[in-house]
Amino acid sequence: MNTFLETSRLILRPWQEADAEALYKYAKDPAIGPIAGWPPHTSIAHSLEIIRTVFTAPETYAVVLKETNEPVGSAGIMFGDGMHSAAMQADEAEIGYWIGVPYWGQGLIPEAVRCLLQRCFTDLGVSAVWCGYYDGNTQSRRVMEKCGLTYHHTESGNTSPLGDIRTEHFMRITAEEWKALQQIREINKDARSTELISQLTQVWESSVRATHHFLSEQDICNLRPMTKEALRTIDTLIIAFSANKPVGFMCIQDQKIEALFLAPGHIGKGIGKRLIRLAINRYKAFYIDVNEQNTQATDIYRHLGFEVFRRNETDSQGNPFPILCMKFNPN
Ligand SMILES: CC(C)(COP(=O)(O)OP(=O)(O)OC[C@H]1O[C@@H](n2cnc3c(N)ncnc32)[C@H](O)[C@@H]1OP(=O)(O)O)[C@@H](O)C(=O)NCCC(=O)NCCS
Repeated sequence: MNTFLETSRLILRPWQEADAEALYKYAKDPAIGPIAGWPPHTSIAHSLEIIRTVFTAPETYAVVLKETNEPVGSAGIMFGDGMHSAAMQADEAEIGYWIGVPYWGQGLIPEAVRCLLQRCFTDLGVSAVWCGYYDGNTQSRRVMEKCGLTYHHTESGNTSPLGDIRTEHFMRITAEEWKALQQIREINKDARSTELISQLTQVWESSVRATHHFLSEQDICNLRPMTKEALRTIDTLIIAFSANKPVGFMCIQDQKIEALFLAPGHIGKGIGKRLIRLAINRYKAFYIDVNEQNTQATDIYRHLGFEVFRRNETDSQGNPFPILCMKFNPN
C-alpha cells in the first residue's frame, strides 16, 4: 500500500525511480551517511539501486519539500529489520531519518518524525518506538528529544554496518507516553480566548490554594490580575488538557519557565514532569524561579536536573517570600 503523509511543510511518500538524481545530490555527501552507519552514494546508478532495494521496504518515505516538490531526505519506520536495539520487542518499531545538509537546522526532520510517530501509534498499533544514534551525533539526539523520546540505554562494542565498532545510544517513547503528550498543546496568542484565560486563571487559583499555603487571601487577590495578563501576553503558553478541559499550564519566555501550575486533582500524575521535559527539550527553557517554601516543586525540579544558582530574599514584587533561581544542568 502506498501511503502519503502530510505535515505543514512536507509530504512523506514512497521513493520513486525518478528521485534517483535528487537522492544522489544529497546522499553523496559524506556528512550524511557515515554518521548514520551507511556509505555515501557513489553515483546516480547507486542511488537508483538503493531506491529499488533498501527503499522499497514498507514505511520508507521520501521526505519531500512541499515548496519545491523535491525529495531532500528520507525517513522510515523499521520493524524486525534495520539497526534496532536488542531490547526491541516484536510489536515495537524503530524510526530512522536523514536530511540533506542544506536543510539542516530547520526542524524538518522533527516535523517528519512527529508524523511517523502518529502513524506508528494510531495506524500501525505499535507499542513503543525506538531511535538509536551513534555516540557524538548530537543533532540526531536533539531530534529525538524534541519529539518526546527519552534516553533508554547505551550499547557499546556493536559493529556498525560500515564495519567499525561503535557506541550507540537508544531513546524510546511508548504508546502511553505519546498519547499523554498529545494532550499537551502550545496555544498561540490569537487563540487565547477570554473563556480559556478564565479557565486557566481558575486552574492557577486552585493550584495556588492547594500548594502555596504561605500566600494570604490578599496576596492571591493581588496576583490574580497579573496572572491573567501574563496568560494573555506571554510568548509561549503550553496547556495540558484532560477530556478537552485545561487542567494545567506552563508559560515560557526567554528560555525561562515563568509559570507552571496544575489543578489539584491532576498533580502527581506525571503531567508536570512531561511539561518540564518539553520545556527543556523543545523550548530550551533552562531557567526557573521557585518559591523556597514550595518544597514539592523544588524537589521535582531538582529531580529533573535543575540546580539552585542563586537565592533572593524577596519575590519579584518585593514580598518576603524567598526565591530560588534554578538552572537545568544536563549532566
Ligand atoms: C540528524 C538530522 C536528521 C537532523 O535533522 P534536522 O531537520 O536538521 O533537525 P533539526 O532542525 O531539529 O536540527 C537538529 C539539531 O541540529 C542542530 N544543527 C543544525 N545544523 C547543524 C550543523 N551544521 N552543525 C551542528 N548542529 C547543527 C540544530 O541546531 C538542532 O539542534 P537544536 O534543536 O538544539 O537547535 C540531520 O542533521 C542529518 O541528516 N544528519 C545526518 C544523518 C543522521 O545523523 N541521521 C540520524 C542517524 S541516527
